[in-house]
Amino acid sequence: MITRRHFLASTAASLCIPSLAFADEAMRLRAEPVKLDLLPDQDQTSLWGFNGSTPGPTIRTRKGGRVKVRFENALKQSSAVHWHGIRIDNKMDGVPGLTQSQVSSGNDFLYDFVAPDAGTYWYHSHDRSWEQVARGLYGALIVEEENPPLVDHDIIVFVDDWRLNRDGSQAGDFENMHDQAHAGRMGNFAKAIFQGVTSPIKLNQRIRLRFINVATDRIFPLQLTGVDGKIIAYDGMPLEKPEDMDNIILAPAQRADIIADVTGETIEVNFTARDGLFRLGGFTVQGLIEPTAKAEVILPMINRYEMPDLKNAVQLTLQMEGGAMSRRMMMGGMMNGDVWAFNGVSGMTDTPFHKFKAGQTGVIELVNDTRFPHAIHLHGHHFQAIVSGGMSPLRDTILVDAGKTTKIACVFDNPGKWLLHCHMLAHQAAGMKTWVEVA
Ligand code: C2O
Ligand code: CU
Repeated sequence: MITRRHFLASTAASLCIPSLAFADEAMRLRAEPVKLDLLPDQDQTSLWGFNGSTPGPTIRTRKGGRVKVRFENALKQSSAVHWHGIRIDNKMDGVPGLTQSQVSSGNDFLYDFVAPDAGTYWYHSHDRSWEQVARGLYGALIVEEENPPLVDHDIIVFVDDWRLNRDGSQAGDFENMHDQAHAGRMGNFAKAIFQGVTSPIKLNQRIRLRFINVATDRIFPLQLTGVDGKIIAYDGMPLEKPEDMDNIILAPAQRADIIADVTGETIEVNFTARDGLFRLGGFTVQGLIEPTAKAEVILPMINRYEMPDLKNAVQLTLQMEGGAMSRRMMMGGMMNGDVWAFNGVSGMTDTPFHKFKAGQTGVIELVNDTRFPHAIHLHGHHFQAIVSGGMSPLRDTILVDAGKTTKIACVFDNPGKWLLHCHMLAHQAAGMKTWVEVA
């Protein structure tokens, strides 16, 4: 017989081991039409999201924790979910046609993986992503450190832009060839969306801001006021040396973690557009706590990372070609929608760009022979740029400006088939993608 005392005792016991208690239960993540307040004085904008909202729910786990998500597709087109930046099992990477089949309308798929790295990651649709991400199919995946830095608020900041009609509805031109051949499909309205603020933010408190650029094509240079702090991580990976906040540039898909103390009466997130500062969002600070002397936060590199073996690395070149004002376009590459190419090849091929032996270091020269910047993303791995005097912080997405060349080094140690593409999703749609194999 279960007495009240027994019942309480067993409840308490299970609270101590929540990960075990719930390991078999998958969280459900349902892609469906949603609404979002964007334009003041207009109706809500109809978008797509997960579990009733865009951004979707934040999925949190501990480093080494298991993520089990039952993805349900309640859209009228097929979809799939990619877990961006997290070095998981290839079968769970969510790329239709490469790692799984499309999840058609009304069907579901079980994502089940262990999160090896702590940090700020995100999930988004990887099927017709230029449309589905633009419509709002994304959310945050937060993997907590074993000993997270102490903060009063842990806030996720999604930065995005939308192309809206005057009445607040979203423009439907997701495959506009003019956009594809230029800098991508930019919105005409931009905003920051915050998640995780559960109580008023007070003067002198310490906050963690996890910025995620979820825009399909826009690069966001950001400026913060009302806080004083440092960038402590990029793309989920802690920095050896925290960086100043005065130069935050996030290409599509990139993240930056900031730890800062509240110093002003308002906190503002601004986008430094060409024609001035544009306010994306912010908070009014309410009340204060006593100032205490706080040490600067340095996150130890808690995520496992093999050092690249530069001496024995395979040397490769990935040349970005095409787009407006390029030879490729003049020669009529545009006719079949293959506006962009890597090494002369547009879109996916039967054989990979390169097949690496597991554990092998690859040095890839990313040559941007186009008139536009590109944000190159490799699935399943992090890599570093080889810069004068050493190596850059670890990244999963790197911005290469028009006409520039960047060499990256990567230890290809995660077996499987991994996409390598421009995360300006209009460019990806128009051919700027390939894949590598690690075996
Ligand atoms: Cu963020 Cu191929 O994805
Ligand atoms: Cu691009």
